Amino acid sequence: MSEHRAVPRAKSWRQSVRLAGECIEVIDQTQLPSSWASVALWSVDDVVDAIARLVVRGAPAIGACGAFGLALAIGSGEVDPTGPAKQFEASLRNVADRLSAARPTAVNLSWAVEKVFEAALQVPSERRAAAALEAAMAVADEDAAACDAMAQLGADRVGHARRVLTHCNTGRLATCGAGTALGVVYELRARGHLEEVLVDETRPLLQGARLTSTELVEAGIPVRVIVDGAAAAAMSLGMVDAVLVGADRIASNGDTANKIGTYGLALSAAAHDVPFYVVAPTSTLDGSICRGSDIVIEERPPEEVLTWRGEELAGSGAGAWNPAFDVTPEDLITAIITEAGVVEPPFEAGLQQAVARSAGRGANRRAGA
Ligand code: MRU
Repeated sequence: MSEHRAVPRAKSWRQSVRLAGECIEVIDQTQLPSSWASVALWSVDDVVDAIARLVVRGAPAIGACGAFGLALAIGSGEVDPTGPAKQFEASLRNVADRLSAARPTAVNLSWAVEKVFEAALQVPSERRAAAALEAAMAVADEDAAACDAMAQLGADRVGHARRVLTHCNTGRLATCGAGTALGVVYELRARGHLEEVLVDETRPLLQGARLTSTELVEAGIPVRVIVDGAAAAAMSLGMVDAVLVGADRIASNGDTANKIGTYGLALSAAAHDVPFYVVAPTSTLDGSICRGSDIVIEERPPEEVLTWRGEELAGSGAGAWNPAFDVTPEDLITAIITEAGVVEPPFEAGLQQAVARSAGRGANRRAGA
């Protein structure tokens, strides 16, 4: 067996997104793994820019960042909380829409922003700022709890897997907790089953190579980075017991949008009889969308494909197509692991039940039960 990288001294993990007094502090993920710089976000423009540039990224993490962003807009007076209800609602709508548009595919962003929006509208003007902040903090706390639940349920479901393959980054950097797919990986390791993780480098922005391998090395989990094009070969050679990925938006029928390259992985997994699991909180489910073809796919600038940190990677004058996500059809998915249960195919009814269970738990928590 080939050698794995040595495990360095463990760093204490900082949160990907946190409230720090009157600003939001995020780890600048564009600088990883070479530096662990934090960035303070003071205004809605700062938050929109950080989300759009992937300073903060991963569907649940950008949801929390957007939620804090809307709450801070009220707290800082960027949206005046003292005005008449109609005026307040119009200004807040404007800011909420700007935040949600920063990344259109990850539904967790608009879901979280709407939670804060609704909370702020339901209270008298003197409570607006506090109610918005409480709602934003609940988004972050509930995501951390969802990660714990998905890790347990996911490890129960895929417990046989000793060698898993994952794509992009779905861990601590992408969420407010241990992660979605990577949370399951951490739990599998804790249970003593897991031998190795193969991680796709995840072109063009290398979230797998830069972020996931860093997280796994920090956790002492053996990891090998592969180029995206090697995944099918790894599966054909019997090197993968299960594929675990996250999601940015899941349609009612189970079709799943996730980082570009996920669809190809699912096709390879089906061809080689490797189970393919999607791990995502119910905040990633979009019941308003029937099927994957209705999901808006974010297209990003060609430069992300054609250059790397200012260096040209392609022939000068070449164009590029740069969709950030693709859609995996539901019939290629073995199971969808949520915090409110593992949903088996056909997915539609099971996903609806998971959303209902999750909403019930949230209501109980808010009622202090
Ligand atoms: O463009 P990114 O880096 O935000 O894409 C992230 C992904 O595709 C993740 O798989 C997804 O958001 C789930 S993160 C828990």
